[in-house]
Amino acid sequence: MKTNNTLGEATLGGQFTFPGTSLTVQRMGYGAMQLAGPGVFGRPKDPEAAVAVLREAVSAGVNHIDTADFYGPHVTNQIIRQALHPYPAGLVIVTKLGAIRPADGSWQPASSPRDLTAGVHDNLRNLGLDALDIVNYRAMGSIHGTKEGSIAEQVTVLANLKRQGLIRHIGLSNVTPTQVAEAQAITDIVCVQNNYNLANRGDDALIDELARQGIAYVPFFPLGGFTPLQSSTLTAVADRLGAKPMQVALAWLLHRSPNILLIPGTSSVAHLRENLAAAELTLSPETLAELDEIAAATVAVKH
Ligand SMILES: NC(=O)c1ccc[n+]([C@@H]2O[C@H](COP(=O)([O-])OP(=O)(O)OC[C@H]3O[C@@H](n4cnc5c(N)ncnc54)[C@H](OP(=O)(O)O)[C@@H]3O)[C@@H](O)[C@H]2O)c1
Repeated sequence: MKTNNTLGEATLGGQFTFPGTSLTVQRMGYGAMQLAGPGVFGRPKDPEAAVAVLREAVSAGVNHIDTADFYGPHVTNQIIRQALHPYPAGLVIVTKLGAIRPADGSWQPASSPRDLTAGVHDNLRNLGLDALDIVNYRAMGSIHGTKEGSIAEQVTVLANLKRQGLIRHIGLSNVTPTQVAEAQAITDIVCVQNNYNLANRGDDALIDELARQGIAYVPFFPLGGFTPLQSSTLTAVADRLGAKPMQVALAWLLHRSPNILLIPGTSSVAHLRENLAAAELTLSPETLAELDEIAAATVAVKH
């Protein structure tokens, strides 16, 4: 596999400091959603394997872990605590609020002031923390993605919890540019976490605007999520570079913009190692242009 000297010297994609904070992370992080049971519900089949993935990530230098207390529910946070508590200095755990999981395993919005406050306390208890580094308000939107509508009430609740010292910094998830601007009029926003990858580039303009402001953009489903990315172009590029398609997809995101932080999810140590190694991959301008065609082709097919 060809390596990029600039990124290669900067382990795990180099570092990023969340704006207005003392929180600096490697750009290659880890998303913990895959550690719960099937359908992100209940205990995993092999809890020890889940613990091993987290320990491997941290020992490889990952210091940015994304989670939610509604993964499981509670299960993912409890596994993070079991694997990593007492947490190493510099580890940034980012969680999100806005949903609950009833006994049927469905995902339901939970965004009243009472729900959000209870969610913060659930996260604190299950992670074993006195304060949460970053909390994203996750707007539930529609099943197709973001949906316009005021999020002022929810962001105000988070700002109050920040004043109380239970939350250090605030982010947003599944939001539109209008909602980001609305939230920024209420409090400082340090990151935005939306659905984005090689084939789904609806947030291109938002990413550039957040980069201008120094705000992190953290794509969820960087590998396609429940429908893993599949593309003959991606496979051809990967074959040519002696890499795996998923590695190329992650490397493309690292090249896309310096404010992009990655949280690929996996329940497998082997996949974790592959994903972390993607930070060493160089993509030439020609290769990047070739990969840019994937989204254009996807949009053409949808029409
Ligand atoms: N804010 C939100 O609304 C939201 C929504 C979804 C997710 N998230 C966050 O974003 C993180 C990432 O999203 P995600 O985990 O859903 O999707 P993802 O990272 O796009 O993809 C995860 C899927 O890819 C597989 N995979 C991972 N590495 C692989 C590799 N090297 N080769 C082949 N397959 C690989 C995983 O299976 P294996 O387990 O077999 O590796 C899993 O099925 C989550 O963990 C979560 O923290 C946030």
